[in-house]
Amino acid sequence: MQAILAREFGGPEVLELEELPDPAAGAGQVRVRIHAIGVNPYETYMRAGAYAIKPELPYIPGADAAGVIDQVGSGVTAWTPGDRVYISGTATHKAYGAYAQLVVCNQDQVHRLPRRISFAQGAGLFVPYVTAWRALFGRANVRAGDVVMIHGASGGVGSAATQFAVAAGATVIGTAGSDDGLALVRAQGARFAIDHRNTGYLDDITRVTGGRGPDVILEMLANVNLDHDLTVVAPGGRIVVIGNRGRVEIDARKIMTKDISVFGMALWGIPADEIRRAHDAIVAGLDSGALTPVVGTELPLAEAARAHRQVMEPGAKGKIVLLPDPGP
Ligand SMILES: NC(=O)c1ccc[n+]([C@@H]2O[C@H](COP(=O)([O-])OP(=O)(O)OC[C@H]3O[C@@H](n4cnc5c(N)ncnc54)[C@H](OP(=O)(O)O)[C@@H]3O)[C@@H](O)[C@H]2O)c1
Repeated sequence: MQAILAREFGGPEVLELEELPDPAAGAGQVRVRIHAIGVNPYETYMRAGAYAIKPELPYIPGADAAGVIDQVGSGVTAWTPGDRVYISGTATHKAYGAYAQLVVCNQDQVHRLPRRISFAQGAGLFVPYVTAWRALFGRANVRAGDVVMIHGASGGVGSAATQFAVAAGATVIGTAGSDDGLALVRAQGARFAIDHRNTGYLDDITRVTGGRGPDVILEMLANVNLDHDLTVVAPGGRIVVIGNRGRVEIDARKIMTKDISVFGMALWGIPADEIRRAHDAIVAGLDSGALTPVVGTELPLAEAARAHRQVMEPGAKGKIVLLPDPGP
């Protein structure tokens, strides 16, 4: 099979397409023929050797993908060859092993992919949607009637969070930094789409909430925005830090005087029972039509390095997806 292998840590150029032996499903495992692979920012941090999870070299990146089961190991009764699935990590590791034509997963790492969802869309389900669900419902306790600001709503996690929050009856304010991104945010059902490139855009957030501020903020770039979030959030508000790329200075007095709760979250630390609930919510939302992943860019698997450059550039518009050669 073809797979992307990193033989050393470094820049995007360390990602090379190689020919590797086909893996086989062991007991309690399934093998998935992969049709599409989702690219996430953390895969660039891991490739650079700067991530909390540091794989042994060489390694195959990626944890998000969708395809069709083509081999079932002994003891597996819930799945049969031909089933369409999306995966949440691989048997190699929950955070890598997926940039390949064939991937072996433990049977609880595959999830039914409804027919209305394409493989490219299914490749953007695990990391973005589980993260979004956990931030909204596991941390911020979002309920109908809340005003939820998604600070960075044009990317994978932000578009997933917008769909989940709208379906839960929240009013969503989503920010983006490009015209395409703003259009995408509106199309996901956000009531307000605000450009985070504009000086003074935080005043717009205060204005559209009638001076009160959002009840909840999901933050994709805390090192830039956390202190501003503390300024604009409503009294008693909840802020969830999802993304952060450096240090930040905050005025902690705002947390005290406004009775604010600041939560953090990391996908890899979510308790197993909560992960199960998140996947149940994802599959139910896909079935009902409440959730529809947005694919912005499709590239051949061989162009993984280009995808890693693009995912770190501004102007997000949903997911970047890699397509392996379909094979024989
Ligand atoms: N904690 C966790 O477990 C977890 C899980 C998944 C992801 N993450 C992190 O969460 C972040 C988002 O992930 P993703 O997959 O959605 O990435 P993505 O698809 O690349 O999207 C990035 C988002 O951040 C926005 N952004 C850029 N500059 C911003 C600014 N100054 N203020 C607010 N937003 C800004 C982008 O908007 P424009 O491009 O339109 O400017 C875009 O909406 C990443 O840092 C990722 O590493 C964390």
